[in-house]
Amino acid sequence: QAFCLAVDGPAASGKSTTTRLVAQRLGLTYIDTGGLYRAATLLAQRQHLLPKKGDAAPQELLLSSLEKATFTLRTSPSQDQGSLPVTRIYIDGEDVSHALRTPEITAHVSRLAQIPEVRQVMLYKQRTMASPSYEETTATGTNGVAMDGRDIGTTVFPNAHLKIFLSADARTRSLRRQAEWGESGSPEDLEKIYQDIVERDRQDMTRPVSPLRKADDAVEVDTSTATLIQVVDRIVQEG
Ligand code: CDP
Repeated sequence: QAFCLAVDGPAASGKSTTTRLVAQRLGLTYIDTGGLYRAATLLAQRQHLLPKKGDAAPQELLLSSLEKATFTLRTSPSQDQGSLPVTRIYIDGEDVSHALRTPEITAHVSRLAQIPEVRQVMLYKQRTMASPSYEETTATGTNGVAMDGRDIGTTVFPNAHLKIFLSADARTRSLRRQAEWGESGSPEDLEKIYQDIVERDRQDMTRPVSPLRKADDAVEVDTSTATLIQVVDRIVQEG
């Protein structure tokens, strides 16, 4: 099996930026599974198949439409020291990256991700993405895969070569999220961001299937007081 790095952690713990940079340093294909769940949510929303609160069983239509869809991620390397690698996400070839971080998708994604049958479909897709044939189609890293999410080390790749669990307290994570929004020109109220993060942590940790938790053999890295580069260096050293 090709090298597999699994990075898990709560919302806004810096997983995606950290994992993208580590992937670039180690020549790994980067897979953002939060982005995949967001893309699944967008697809469901577009087809009016988003489950409502309290819906018992997921509709067959939703599951078959997720199964049929092809999700692809492409990461282009950073151009210089100061810039970050950029990941774009496609549904059936359409670039939907701009539509995935809206408050509406963020509000629905955890509910969709709680549905066991939805996770089963996504689990299969995530495992397929760690195959050499997927690496060829996306032409990024060739040394293996770096995947970030909530249950990569526990469920998707329990045999990953290296597992990292990133943590940071909720206040720190809210500040980071606010700074991110600031860059993209739509600042949000800090208290609102904090409430959203706490609620998403709760949903992610208490769901019946594959809840967010540290795998027993994962290395925990607290990022509250470390810089991005320090965290990246630390993981590269472990790898
Ligand atoms: O970037 P942020 O931390 O806001 O979230 P994300 O990584 O984009 O993931 C969005 C949501 O998808 C999470 O809150 C989880 O509910 C869900 N998710 C999941 O259930 N399993 C994963 N492997 C990744 C994300």
